[in-house]
Amino acid sequence: MRVVRKGAGKGEVTSIPSWESVLRAEGEERERLIKELVRGMSVRQKVNQMAGRMRAWEMLVSLIRYNFRPFRAGEDRRLGIPPLRFTDGPRGVALNRSTCFPVSMARGATWDVDLEERVAEAMAVEARSQGADFFGGVCVNLLRHPGWGRAQETFGEDPFLLGEMGAAMVRGAQKHLMACVKHFACNSIEESRFYVDVRVDERTLREVYLPHFRRCVEEGAAAVMSAYNRVNGEYCAHNAHLLRDILKGEWGFRGLVMSDFVFGTRDTVKAALGGLDVEMPHAVFFGRRLVRAVRRGAVPESLLDDAVTRILRQKARFARAGTGDYGPHRVACREHADLALEAARKGIVLLKNEGGLLPLEPGKIGKLAVVGKLADLPNIGDRGSSRVRPPYVVTVLQGLRDLAGTNTEVIYRDGSDPSEAAEAARSADACIAVVGLTGRDEGEAMPGPVKLGGDREDLSLRMRDIVLLETISMANPRCAVVLEGGSAIITSGWRERIPAVLMAWYPGMEGGRAVAEVIFGLVNPSGKLPLTFPEGNEQLPPFDKKARSVEYGYYHGYRLLDRKGMRPAFPFGFGLSYTTYEYRSLRLSAEEIPADGSLTVEAEVSNTGRRAGEEVVQLYVGYPASAVDRPVKELKGFLRVPLEPGESRRVTFTLRAEDLAYYDDRAGRWVVERTDYDVYVGASSALEDLPLRGSFRVT
Ligand code: BGC
Repeated sequence: MRVVRKGAGKGEVTSIPSWESVLRAEGEERERLIKELVRGMSVRQKVNQMAGRMRAWEMLVSLIRYNFRPFRAGEDRRLGIPPLRFTDGPRGVALNRSTCFPVSMARGATWDVDLEERVAEAMAVEARSQGADFFGGVCVNLLRHPGWGRAQETFGEDPFLLGEMGAAMVRGAQKHLMACVKHFACNSIEESRFYVDVRVDERTLREVYLPHFRRCVEEGAAAVMSAYNRVNGEYCAHNAHLLRDILKGEWGFRGLVMSDFVFGTRDTVKAALGGLDVEMPHAVFFGRRLVRAVRRGAVPESLLDDAVTRILRQKARFARAGTGDYGPHRVACREHADLALEAARKGIVLLKNEGGLLPLEPGKIGKLAVVGKLADLPNIGDRGSSRVRPPYVVTVLQGLRDLAGTNTEVIYRDGSDPSEAAEAARSADACIAVVGLTGRDEGEAMPGPVKLGGDREDLSLRMRDIVLLETISMANPRCAVVLEGGSAIITSGWRERIPAVLMAWYPGMEGGRAVAEVIFGLVNPSGKLPLTFPEGNEQLPPFDKKARSVEYGYYHGYRLLDRKGMRPAFPFGFGLSYTTYEYRSLRLSAEEIPADGSLTVEAEVSNTGRRAGEEVVQLYVGYPASAVDRPVKELKGFLRVPLEPGESRRVTFTLRAEDLAYYDDRAGRWVVERTDYDVYVGASSALEDLPLRGSFRVT
């Protein structure tokens, strides 16, 4: 069916395909109809597709209650084209009372891509159930420095882990709606985000800061959000090198690029030429200014055609996505709360457990002291755009009380008076302290009279928490510390005195239950750090949250420590369990492979303890004979393996030679070196945890 309308405001009558006919068509035919539809649209109609639209009252309400309804863009009633309806993530849907999952960093610590896919699917169902069809929850910015305020929104420091987790989110979410991957690119300082210029050489950009975005694009992501900051002098939303050359050119991205909100776009012509397709949340630089720029020839209309084709392509692709079973009954439903609980359980990392203090056996603990303000605080993350308002939050104190059983008395002191807390600890059989960070300390920087969020310059605990830990540990040696926060916390200075330490992150609305289950041994901890926990600042790249310009060098995280030969407090990939695992019999399918070939790496892992558990097996590759400067080793594979006591399993990874390439910035291409490569398999990135070693050659 065709719609006949007045064309381009010039009075002539044109016949263009209807939106319905676009939706009915598939493949090439749909592409053809979209192109035809775009050709028949007026400049105004095209420009209308390319920006959000907020009414004045929506702007006002947004100031008080951000994300109160989906942000809309590109509705065209005459043409029957529906708007994009955008909402935020990534720890759940930012609208109304949705399920609050553990933050991305906690889910990064699960190293569980299957779980992540299920989590993302649940979020997408909740978004659809609340009228959104476009989800901004896939944040894969690389954590260069753990002080980044929004660390909690991403999956850690490693491009491979980020790529796999991000791709899992895209897969899960896109069963129901469009997923938006953000913030492209090099966005990892919060307080200077609107102006900082990240200087980065091409090789570092390609190898360190972009591979995970590419992985999400290859997974079919519908959209990419440009970052606020500049990269090499140009704002990301205007950055033709990032948006046109790399994303849309080299990677063949067929989706749309939208701006980050409010200060994400700065210039009409630069944004349009640079490759931005949609300005959000409202037309400031696009809209009328873009119409004028086209009319005066500053922006070729063909660029509008390309942008609108991308937008309509994705709208059509997802118009009929999903099961149709959406509604209030799916929002924060039991099934999703269970999923939040599963993610919290799997993401908790046991950092230290001297003398097997944990798990506590409820039967043997007559009295349990719980101390620290955070124990009794719903602590689920920052208050920025990713804020989720769940129907309830199980705190750690609540979780412990629920599970302690009738024979264990739980006493609580908030710790504001350390001597009182020490007294409680002294009187108890064991003590649990909950300390760390909240949305006040880190998160998206929110304007307002009191500091909320922003970056952390000091990665230590607050002095009063350190004093509290000192006092209680002197009163009772059976003390375990539960840390909450979205990133690394410096533990030197106090961890020597504390026998057991758990990193619980911001564990979501079911988090307190998961923490209690780990403490009482109903759940065997299996999370592994998705970032390095340093001993101190000297183990980190420089970080100046107010700098106008910053150099992003090639090394950070475990790569930097490997290079410097330094030991962190807790390495990337590290996490203990209540059972023990053993690694043996590494087998490589070939000693030599061609530069376009691949090989399999097999290893056996066994549970040698007395409890069932899940181990995250990690594969790293090193470049001992490279002609260029390369990391000592890099993560190239991982797998979460459930193991009963005494059980062994063989784990298989496939390594493609092309995944080992480096970027030759002089030649402007990826190079697979014909040389020797080392393979390491084991339990973390620390050499002592990588007992299986082998090597092969690319010829
Ligand atoms: C944040 C984005 C978010 C957007 C929309 C921005 O301030 O940087 O992550 O998706 O707002 O809420």
